[in-house]
Amino acid sequence: MIPVCRLEDLPEGESVRLDLEPPIAVFNADGELYAIDDTCTHQDASLSEGWLEGCLVECPLHAASFDLRTGRPTCLPARKAVRTHPVSVLDGTVWVHVESDRAVQAPHTAVAGQGSAA
Ligand code: FES
Repeated sequence: MIPVCRLEDLPEGESVRLDLEPPIAVFNADGELYAIDDTCTHQDASLSEGWLEGCLVECPLHAASFDLRTGRPTCLPARKAVRTHPVSVLDGTVWVHVESDRAVQAPHTAVAGQGSAA
């Protein structure tokens, strides 16, 4: 498991990008937490910088939309799904479960505001 941040640091409508290899984005969508691979499967855009609407995140580059629950794109130009990762909250800390704990060091995180282009 990889620590993400304190739950209070990830309010509704916000996202956190974990600088892992590959990067992972964690979203708070209306109080539900989801983690997906951060890189859009169309080109090289960061989905944590996209726009969140319900359980969908829209890529900031060409507007493909991904369902955070399944990772599947809901519209073109993306055709491939992003991987999803389980998320849990333990003692107020958000954790993401990755297939292997390749990156065991504390990741650098950045909280992105909804729709931010930073
Ligand atoms: S890079 Fe995401 S839709 Fe093109």
